[in-house]
Amino acid sequence: MTGPVLAVDQGTSGTKALVVCPERGVIGTGFVPVSPRYGPGGRVEVDPAELLDSVLGAGRRALAHAGEPVEAVGLANQGETVLAWDPATGEPLTDAIVWQDRRAEPLCAELAPHAEELKQLTGLPLDPYFAAPKMAWIRRELTREGVVTASDSWLVHRLTGAFVTDAATAGRTQLLDLDQVAWSQRALDLFGLSGERLPDVVDAAGPVGVTTAFGPGTPLTGLLVDQQAALLAQRVTEPGAAKCTYGTGAFLLAHTGHRPHRSTTGLVGCVAWRLGGKASYCLDGQVYTAASAVRWLTDLGVVSGASDLDTVGSTVPDSGGVTFVPALAGLAAPWWRGDVRGSVTGLGLDTGPGHLVRALCEGIAAQVVSLTEAVATDLGSPLTALRVDGGLTRSALLMQTQADLLQMPVEVSALPDATALGAAAVARLGIDPGLTPEQVVPDRKPSAVYEPRISADRAAERLGAFRAEVEALLERAPSAA
Ligand code: G3P
Repeated sequence: MTGPVLAVDQGTSGTKALVVCPERGVIGTGFVPVSPRYGPGGRVEVDPAELLDSVLGAGRRALAHAGEPVEAVGLANQGETVLAWDPATGEPLTDAIVWQDRRAEPLCAELAPHAEELKQLTGLPLDPYFAAPKMAWIRRELTREGVVTASDSWLVHRLTGAFVTDAATAGRTQLLDLDQVAWSQRALDLFGLSGERLPDVVDAAGPVGVTTAFGPGTPLTGLLVDQQAALLAQRVTEPGAAKCTYGTGAFLLAHTGHRPHRSTTGLVGCVAWRLGGKASYCLDGQVYTAASAVRWLTDLGVVSGASDLDTVGSTVPDSGGVTFVPALAGLAAPWWRGDVRGSVTGLGLDTGPGHLVRALCEGIAAQVVSLTEAVATDLGSPLTALRVDGGLTRSALLMQTQADLLQMPVEVSALPDATALGAAAVARLGIDPGLTPEQVVPDRKPSAVYEPRISADRAAERLGAFRAEVEALLERAPSAA
């Protein structure tokens, strides 16, 4: 048995680090927030130095808390956040453009005639969410210098000097051939990125390099994009089950086995992870704004933060006829309509903060229901349960609403930091390739299971109201004109 590992989850609103011991579980934690900047035209940027400092700060805090050295480091990353940087010095040449940023919409509109070809090649619909449109935007508008990559390659380079990305993160670019799990020349040509120096695509587990950032020379042995890391930590390693992580956005992933699966319902077909040279695949659907919609309500003074959702929501028995479509950064799967913006309808003089909170919970949960239905259609069989994790699972109101609208049990992970635990798992597999994924992810009982408490008819009625409002928004949005 190996010793503890340091697992770092570099996310949109902060970096969480855990020191994870095979026998004693989590023995150290650290968190450092980061502050993306929101601008007009759907811009979302962050200072790369803030990302790196948060990785170093959170990792060092977790190590100080644990009080013992680690054998290896694992890193999970945001996936589609990109920047240009100088490979000679490691210095950033641009801000990091965050996955939520919509500035590459015109570029995607230009490429629309190739959308189906790109989807067949890469498994991904054409949308500014993914890395390649933002990489191409940087090349057109900001700089031709250096390399342009997802944030993982830059962080790994700063930590170890290596120039790599794991297969699952590479799969979030729209430049990876889904069948070959190798960069696609055709996709690169279409995005005008054919001259780029790209990182080597590596397995999720294995020696990448050595970092002195966390002590005297620690091997980095695990790399995985964050949602897939949570999928692994939730032990969704075979077809049939799904997980949803409620973070800045909410992300539903279902394992589809060792053959790539191209969705017919608007989901993303992508790499779950590659281990020992063998790729596993998953289907993926996104709700762009979950905690960031809660932050929006917080900025308006409706709640004091996510921890206040249940208190404010419990002041009223229901949403009082209010419908909230929290498409504050557009709609992703299965609609892929970045031009849609959110709406709150059904307001009356008696509408209070509690109604808005309940309507937001319903809006997030209803989108997740649409994703589970799409997964069931793609896989040809319904899901039987949903495993959930992430900060917003602490809201009993949101989780109960999710079970009610889904009409199936919602199992809350015993540890909310599933993404970091997935990073720990791949780091451990990287130290000992003889282990299996199941052996490095403890089979924990859920901390809570929410069963549906409303009838199927009532759930259908509430979903119907939400969907009618989504339809109205789709018709009114600019691209429908
Ligand atoms: O695709 C973006 C997503 O993975 C970011 O996750 O945890 O930073 O909200 P998070």
